[in-house]
Amino acid sequence: MKRLIALLTVVAAMAVPIAVVGGATAPAAGRQEVTLPAPETKGGMSLNEALSRRRSVRSFDAKTVGQQQLGQLLWAAQGITDPATGHRTSPSAMAMYPLTVYVCTADGVFTYEPKGHKLVRVSTEDRRADVTQPPRGGQSAPVSFVFTGDPSKFGSRLPDRAAAFVYLEVGHAAENLALEATALGLATVTQGGIDAAKVSKALNLAQGTLVVYTMPVGYPVAG
Ligand SMILES: Cc1cc2nc3c(=O)[nH]c(=O)nc-3n(C[C@H](O)[C@H](O)[C@H](O)COP(=O)(O)O)c2cc1C
Repeated sequence: MKRLIALLTVVAAMAVPIAVVGGATAPAAGRQEVTLPAPETKGGMSLNEALSRRRSVRSFDAKTVGQQQLGQLLWAAQGITDPATGHRTSPSAMAMYPLTVYVCTADGVFTYEPKGHKLVRVSTEDRRADVTQPPRGGQSAPVSFVFTGDPSKFGSRLPDRAAAFVYLEVGHAAENLALEATALGLATVTQGGIDAAKVSKALNLAQGTLVVYTMPVGYPVAG
């Protein structure tokens, strides 16, 4: 059967620690950046199998998620698939791309920059407990992705629909990430019941930024 989505690689299973700053990827002065490994765009679990297997999981193993996997998940959510236009894995109204995905780990908080497929550190604090929904699990996950959006990126072109379009776009991106996690043997849940004000404060978000979902990701607890 034709494979429709680019997913699992054996390489991705290698447990490269999630410590994403330092070493060969040492940041430029004043701006701590890490270029993620190039994503796989072919092969992996079939779309139909990923759809069949996806399930919300709220208990995670302590095992780390490697950089290859991290990059694959972020690429599935917001990666650039057409460098000429900058168009991405997820659709966007008028291709305006109002979303920012935050990546919260024990090593700090990062934003994903699709251009260059990289992480930019915005904090050295571990904010995972602040961005996930207690008590329904998630705090134990090695990484949590927070989906935010800035409706003002649409300018004056969508006076009534800007916020709605941010929510729609998060839905697309989050489902892509959930299917990619499934295909990589990882697990996640879309937490919409988070405390948006608390998350905004923890991530130091600009006023007007919408906080939509947190998705803790890790290996499911065996059993
Ligand atoms: C908009 C939305 C918000 C959700 N918010 C939460 C949440 O805050 N906490 C949580 O544990 N699960 C949350 N979920 C996950 C649902 O509980 C889950 O999708 C549902 O129980 C069906 O199970 P399944 O995803 O395994 O098929 C949310 C799902 C959606 C679509």
